Formats: sequence, structure tokens, C-alpha cells
Amino acid sequence: MKRVDDFRLKFGKKEIVPIMVGGMGVDISTAELALEAARLGGIGHISDAMVPDVSDRRFDTSFVKDKTRFYKANIDNSDKSIVKFDLGVLADATRRHVDATMQAKRGEGLIFVNCMEKLTMNAPRETLQVRMASALDAGIDGITLSAGLHLGSFGLIADHPRFRDAKLGIIVSSVRALQLFLRKNARLDRRPDYVIVEGPLAGGHLGFGLDWAKYDLATIIAEVLLFLKTEQLDIPVVAAGGIFTGSDATSFLEMGAAAVQVATRFTVANECGLPADVKQDYYRASEEDIVVNTISPTGYPMRMLKSTPAIGSGIRPNCEAYGYLLDGNGGCAYIDAYNREVALHPNTKVISVMDKTCLCTHMRNFNCWTCGSTTYRLKDTTNRLPDGTYQTLSAEHIFKDYQFSVDNQVAMPA
Ligand SMILES: Cc1cc2nc3c(=O)[nH]c(=O)nc-3n(C[C@H](O)[C@H](O)[C@H](O)COP(=O)(O)O)c2cc1C
Repeated sequence: MKRVDDFRLKFGKKEIVPIMVGGMGVDISTAELALEAARLGGIGHISDAMVPDVSDRRFDTSFVKDKTRFYKANIDNSDKSIVKFDLGVLADATRRHVDATMQAKRGEGLIFVNCMEKLTMNAPRETLQVRMASALDAGIDGITLSAGLHLGSFGLIADHPRFRDAKLGIIVSSVRALQLFLRKNARLDRRPDYVIVEGPLAGGHLGFGLDWAKYDLATIIAEVLLFLKTEQLDIPVVAAGGIFTGSDATSFLEMGAAAVQVATRFTVANECGLPADVKQDYYRASEEDIVVNTISPTGYPMRMLKSTPAIGSGIRPNCEAYGYLLDGNGGCAYIDAYNREVALHPNTKVISVMDKTCLCTHMRNFNCWTCGSTTYRLKDTTNRLPDGTYQTLSAEHIFKDYQFSVDNQVAMPA
């Protein structure tokens, strides 16, 4: 009987344990978590979501405070179009985050950064260009472009000296999205080094509509593999979304996937950035507690626990401090929803906004509990302690369980 360890992901001569730990913003997939995956011979992702804020917490910089002070006069203005990111600050914060992580890297694996393109930051092209170029400057092994993938994004760093040596990958949820990307990218003569195919059971934003349940990962992977074979394209395919056991992973590797990307199992790792009490909420969740809704201002459905404090919160938009979801014109669906509720309830101090959420603020404060569809099974992966809480796990334990387990078994911690 095969197990994940019988396979290797090959990048040229380099052989990697075919397990990627997916990017989880904002700093849920911490450097510590990514470093463990790399130490164990796999691939870990850090995320560059809200990286100035991550830098403030990690390196005691004051980027968020400085930006808030700079735009203070605009706080009561519902027009946020003047709130821009200082590209020098963005570069500085990205370099700090990536450089410190790469300096600490041990082992044979790799560290990639997850760049969500839906973080349009009131200047989509310019900010994405700086994010990618600064990560390359600071020595990142690879960049995974996700959520909101723009067909021309590789072109933004075509002049960078590391354009051809760093690994560049994309996340898609259909063969059609991959076809479009490859067609558009053909003139650069720079194919993705890997393609992550994320199915409808994943955590975070979904690349599907509310009819996500009609799709399944194995079918999409088969379509992608067939397309690549027909076109004679040798691009490693990485399966993601709902892969809970080593046996689940092995079945995708046996189908022809080169690796798997997993995340939900690691949300309860000691190294994961979620606060300890939130990890317990993930453990306690039942299947009915996991919902897919449309409260993200990005327009993508998002999976989360229904007890997430972000749902219904009507806080004032915090774009002067954050503003990562401002589109190219300074708009955000949460600002519209918030202003509508304020106009409808002029005498109410604390309003509630049900249809959208201030995602920047709530992700920053770990109040938007996004999760994968298998979260309700986490409780079966650990011990319940005498006080009723669940034992958190080391990332090494979870990684090795994926790598070595057979027969759908999950190894319990000592
Ligand atoms: C808490 C959480 C946060 C996530 N955040 C992001 C993100 O910021 N960017 C991204 O591309 N994917 C994100 N994802 C998706 C994962 O990287 C991964 O592809 C997916 O969740 C794999 O499925 P699994 O969780 O069932 O293993 C997130 C997933 C979780 C569970």
C-alpha cells in the first residue's frame, strides 16, 4: 500500500516531500509554521496579506500607526480614494518578513509566499508589483499567486533578475482558468513552475460560486491533468482542498498530482498564528457550524465558522489603517454596506452589518474564523484533556502524519 512518502515533487534536480502547507493570511500561516514544513523537506507558505501589520507585530515597526496618523483627517470621510499605500513602506515590510524567514530556514524544503491578488490596495498593479519584487529581493524560494489571479501578473516582474530562477505558481479552480492564464502568458515564455488546483472544500476564499457543492476536486484534477498531457506541458499539479489524511493525499498522487496543498489540519498546530482559544473553537466545531457565505467584500464566497465574531459586526471601516481591499478607485463593498446601515439607523450607536464584513480589521484581529470543510474532524486528530480542551499538535506531528500514514489512519499525539 502506497503512502505520501513514496512520492517526490521534482523541481529540476531538487526532490521535495510532496506536501505544501498552504498560505493562510493574515499571519495564520506564520513563519514558524512554514519553517517547520521546509525543515521536514516539504514546502511552507508565509502570506504577504497585510504585511505592514505583520511587520509591526514581528519586528516592532510602526507602519500601521504611521499610516493611520497620516490619513487621520480622512477617517470620517466615506470617500477613501485618497488612502494609498506608500510603496517604499510596502517593500520594506515585505523584505523584513521574507528576509527574517529565509534567514531562519533549515533543511531541504522550500518557503513560498502566498500573494492574494484580491488585496487590490487602491492601486492593484503597483502594489502587487512591489509585493512580488520585494519578496524576490529578499530571497523567497517561490511565489504563489491566488484569489483574484490576474492574467498579466507574471509580466509585472518580468524584468526582475530572479524572474526565471524563483518558482512561480498559481492557484486555479478550473481547467478553463488555467487555459486562459497559459494563453495570456505565452508571450513571456515563462510558464508557472507549479499549478495548485484548489477544489470547493478548501478554507479561505473559494474560486467557485455558491454552487460550489456541485464541483469536486478529483474531477477538476483529472481535467487539468488531461489538458496538460494533451498539450504536452510538463507542469506539476498540486491538489488542494479537503485532503485530510495521508491516504486522501496518496490517492491524488496516484492519480498523477505531483503534490498536495493542505491547510486545515495545520490550523490547530502550535506554530499556527491563530490564538489558542480560537484553535479550541476550531476543534469544537461540528459539521453544521461550518458555512459558506458572501460576507467577504472581495465578492468571493468564503468558508468560515458561523460563530465567527465578524458576522454582523458593524464597525467603522478602518481603511486609513488598513485599506487592503480598496479597489483601484478607493471603493470597498463593506464601506457601501456600512454607509447604508448608518443611513438607515441614524440614531443608533452600534449598528450591525450582516451582508458584508470589514475583512481587514477582522482578519487582523483573528475575528474572522475562516476554515476548511473538514474542520469538524480536527477533534478526531488529538486528545481531549481532563479540562475539556483539546491538545494542540506540533506541525511536525501533522506533517509526518500526512507523510507516513496509510489506511486513512490519523496518528494521535503522545
Ligand atoms: C484559515 C485559512 C486561511 C486561508 N487563507 C488563505 C489565503 O490567505 N490565501 C490563499 O490562497 N489560501 C488561503 N487558504 C487556503 C489554503 O491555503 C489551502 O489551499 C486550502 O485550505 C487547502 O484545503 P484544506 O484546508 O482542506 O487542507 C486558507 C485556508 C485556511 C484554512
